[in-house]
Amino acid sequence: MPIESQAAQVLLVGAGPGPVDLMTLRAVRAVESAQALLYDALISEEAIALAPPGCVRIQTGKRAGKPSMHQDEINRLMLRLARKGLRVVRLKGGDPSVFGRVGEEAGFLREHGVSVEVVPGVTAACAAAAQFGFPLTHRGEARRVVFTTARLEAGALSGDWSAAGDPEATMAVYMGGEVADALCARMIAAGRSPSTPAVAVEQAGAADARVYHGTLETLPARLASQGGPVVIVVGEVAAQARTAEIDETAPVARTA
Ligand SMILES: C[S@@+](CC[C@H](N)C(=O)[O-])C[C@H]1O[C@@H](n2cnc3c(N)ncnc32)[C@H](O)[C@@H]1O
Repeated sequence: MPIESQAAQVLLVGAGPGPVDLMTLRAVRAVESAQALLYDALISEEAIALAPPGCVRIQTGKRAGKPSMHQDEINRLMLRLARKGLRVVRLKGGDPSVFGRVGEEAGFLREHGVSVEVVPGVTAACAAAAQFGFPLTHRGEARRVVFTTARLEAGALSGDWSAAGDPEATMAVYMGGEVADALCARMIAAGRSPSTPAVAVEQAGAADARVYHGTLETLPARLASQGGPVVIVVGEVAAQARTAEIDETAPVARTA
């Protein structure tokens, strides 16, 4: 039922990397009480199913051959639904503040008098690290983590890649799976050793997640055919990545 008396509000909610048990309790509660749910392409069916019956469900990302909505259209839609008095939840993969356009969406809504609450989520790099047993920082080895993305412009990677040359930086690269060749070459050109450990984790968080091991020199060739989203992690910490997911349900050996 619309809440006409309440001020218009939109919740920008992080759904984590996929499985609902990696969502925060606050995110689950937000979806369970949504009256309008706008969700991105990487949101799992499980997470969408948390919305109550009667909730308006609108998918905004590319799915089943349909193109994704333009950002302007998404902004206007959120505004219209919020002004109708609906409890609007914008559900995004991972954490909304990591390559999640939260700045644009929150800025637009606030400019139009709509209050915004952001609910954080587990970002892909953290999910990948947890699942395959490597840290993103490590004493004496990795003092910094750089969350970055790789975009090709006229065949070359755009942006300043000087941070990649820092041997104590872990580089967590989003949207880089399809340009891994250019990405790894760019990091080597920035001064990073070609033998720097690198892993790519596909579908982090999911039961069928896969990890590809290598170095800056060898990883691209191992990444030939990915089916799902991939996060690439480059740095000494990647050497600690296991080949298989840690099985938390396996019996733990007891010491006397
Ligand atoms: C638009 S960005 C959104 C990132 C998201 N906000 C987050 O915090 O994870 C989409 C990219 O995130 C990465 N990604 C998202 N979910 C992933 C997953 N489950 N496993 C691996 N990479 C993922 C991929 O690089 C994908 O191309």
